[in-house]
Amino acid sequence: MSQHHVKIHDKTFQIYISERQILQTVEVLAARISHDYKHKRPLFLAVLNGAFMFASDLLKEVSINCEISFVKLSSYEDMGSTGHVTEVIGLKEDISQRHVIILEDIVDSGRTLYGLQNTLADMYPASVEIAALLVKPDALQHPLQVKYTGRSIPNDFVVGYGLDYNGLGRNLRDLYKVTDL
Ligand code: IMP
Ligand code: MG
Repeated sequence: MSQHHVKIHDKTFQIYISERQILQTVEVLAARISHDYKHKRPLFLAVLNGAFMFASDLLKEVSINCEISFVKLSSYEDMGSTGHVTEVIGLKEDISQRHVIILEDIVDSGRTLYGLQNTLADMYPASVEIAALLVKPDALQHPLQVKYTGRSIPNDFVVGYGLDYNGLGRNLRDLYKVTDL
């Protein structure tokens, strides 16, 4: 499905980044990762739900030995002194001494991945890096280093290619951004 405008719930979205452009971006990321992680057998951790399409297309372009696991995150404020806590659900692999690459659809405030990075750091990985299809630099509020950024975008709400607006829109092949209308 590919169209210029889509209506989802109460909002109208307009075409923003085409599937073809997305796939070009994904190819570039996969080539960089394949180069950097040769002989390291990285373990990709794809963050559900949003990153499923990105993870699928990226893996097909990665040319080195690699593994992938899919995780769900649940974050909450700890009442104690720790503050923000991210619980990782579904991680069965032992990540100690592994080179981990987090796959995320979009980084907004950075809160989700900052919490995830902290949680993973306690599991003695050899390294942890982030590959995000989209980053909104103006929205970033946490000291997050995104090593592999597909595209930086303005602070607009986007849907499609796995990203949703209240549950809908993930099936769109292209990326759409909300219109002011
Ligand atoms: P953060 O923790 O503020 O960086 O938020 C990241 C998460 O918020 C992403 O994994 C998405 O699920 C969601 N998100 C942020 N911006 C958008 C957007 O523009 N469209 C759809 N989901 C978004
Ligand atoms: Mg997400």
